[in-house]
Amino acid sequence: MPIPVASTPAEARAHCDTARADGKRVAFVPTMGALHAGHIALVDDAKRRGGFVVVSIFVNTLQFGPNEDYARYPRDLAGDLRKLAAVGVDLVLSPEPAVMYADGDQTRVRVTRIAEPLEGASRPGHFEGVATVVAKLLNAVGPCAAVFGRKDYQQLLVVRRMVRDLFLPIEVVGHPTVREADGLAMSSRNAYLSAEERARALAISRGLDAASRAFMRGERAARTLERFARGPIEEAASSVEYVELRDPDDLGEIPGDAGARAALVVACRVGKTRLIDNIVLGEDPHPLPPA
Ligand code: PAF
Repeated sequence: MPIPVASTPAEARAHCDTARADGKRVAFVPTMGALHAGHIALVDDAKRRGGFVVVSIFVNTLQFGPNEDYARYPRDLAGDLRKLAAVGVDLVLSPEPAVMYADGDQTRVRVTRIAEPLEGASRPGHFEGVATVVAKLLNAVGPCAAVFGRKDYQQLLVVRRMVRDLFLPIEVVGHPTVREADGLAMSSRNAYLSAEERARALAISRGLDAASRAFMRGERAARTLERFARGPIEEAASSVEYVELRDPDDLGEIPGDAGARAALVVACRVGKTRLIDNIVLGEDPHPLPPA
């Protein structure tokens, strides 16, 4: 059976309100489409949490900078709908930009401190775009469990903060990063990589893995742990934006030693493609199986 596709927030809200009135819990996965196995894992997680599962597909203009890849971001609505029908979801919300940002809309949601470093510094305006669209999408769906991938770790923390600060009736769920068998974190942007670049991109998970194993052996010095990750990444990447160990809850800097948990976050370019990845030391499994 084809999945119902809502093209406006009001339509989506009506479906979700009916589901809630029938006693179902709503679970929601916001996406920008070009769905891969990482997204399907989020949908499976949502299916375990709710009796009515909604997926949004919307490439959000507002979170792309002027020189970023909005125009060429992969889009495949027909393919996405086939994948979602195969896994079984109850509703897709797929609005046009003119619907999400109608009539010269004037409202922006800006999360402050936690959105400022790292991706916030590298991509000015990015998190304002994310917070604004996520607030709109969460309002379209209404009270629900909303599932986000931990691969976009700072995004997850920004959304958690916004939901808390705005008293939104949402349970925010962070789903573990899904990796290919060779360690590469799944991302729609991996489609930009040539075979040679994809091979080089494996240095990211190798670097995270080296730091993760050092942490397990008892290493706690933040700069040393960063060096374990930075070594392989610097050798393979075309440029490195950051490789930093940060507080896993507020992304504050760690001047000396890490505690029981610490977030190691990476952004770099391989060829022209910008890739991000992370691991929370003391919490996430090693990115690679033992050699
Ligand atoms: O992670 C994403 O795909 C996007 O940033 C999101 C959360 C769907 C908002 O556009």
